Amino acid sequence: MNIQYVHGYDHRENIRLQDQASTLVELLHSDTSYPAGSHVLEAGCGVGAQTITLARNSPRAHITSIDISESSVAAATKKIQEAGFTNVNFQQADIYQLPFAPGSFDHIFVCFVLEHLSQPVAALGCLKRLIKVGGTITVIEGDHGSTYFYPDSEAAYKAIQCQVVLQKRAGGNANIGRELYPLLSKVGFCSIHVSPRMVYVDSSKPSLVEGFTKNTFTAMIEGVRESSIEAGLIDAKTFDDGVNGLYRTTETDGVFCYTFFKAVATKK
Ligand SMILES: C[S@@+](CC[C@H](N)C(=O)[O-])C[C@H]1O[C@@H](n2cnc3c(N)ncnc32)[C@H](O)[C@@H]1O
Repeated sequence: MNIQYVHGYDHRENIRLQDQASTLVELLHSDTSYPAGSHVLEAGCGVGAQTITLARNSPRAHITSIDISESSVAAATKKIQEAGFTNVNFQQADIYQLPFAPGSFDHIFVCFVLEHLSQPVAALGCLKRLIKVGGTITVIEGDHGSTYFYPDSEAAYKAIQCQVVLQKRAGGNANIGRELYPLLSKVGFCSIHVSPRMVYVDSSKPSLVEGFTKNTFTAMIEGVRESSIEAGLIDAKTFDDGVNGLYRTTETDGVFCYTFFKAVATKK
């Protein structure tokens, strides 16, 4: 399946994904651990930013991590080896055509992947076939529409909207977090439980100011500057004012909020 990304595979994007993962470990992963001996598939592992935490939290589970990008799989393999984990196998594969028999896995974990797919329902359907009856899927996604901050900045909302529009044009959905319940229902999962996880940042939390507001969220928006201007979505001044507006929220009196959505559902 031919998929385009707003998020590239470049070095800067990889650093941003690592920053995002390490900043959000507690918020997103503290309640995910898989039992000894269980077989877990991580679909769309990228450069292994979440794989490290999965491997650490489930030391005796057998984890298989796949990604469509060969270079990402190579980077993830190196990262996990260097960290000394031996409970993860990597494979290059496409979520829509996975080379595993039905019912091969007890659990599947998918993080920040559906937002890039043009057919999230079909992708979830492909994943569901691979889960044993009674097994679970865990899906984590962001939702850019959940962003608000102080001081307010109209230009910042316009810059964020550029990212949303570009991702949509590439076939994805930057506001997919709010859709996890309907998507999982549509595919026939049961016992669906969605929990919103808000990142609240003020200057009393300097590691979140750096790791989340600046290096994760604002870096992502800055990353679409050229393509947004080229596409005629915004002029350079408004975009730059928007990015400055986001940085302004990282000052002493600033506040920044963003909500991720984590869903766990069961295959009946
Ligand atoms: C934003 S990255 C997230 C990576 C990782 N889960 C994380 O949270 O850091 C999205 C990943 O999905 C992968 N991906 C996109 N479409 C895919 C497909 N059809 N099959 C497998 N992986 C895919 C991309 O290659 C990319 O590594």
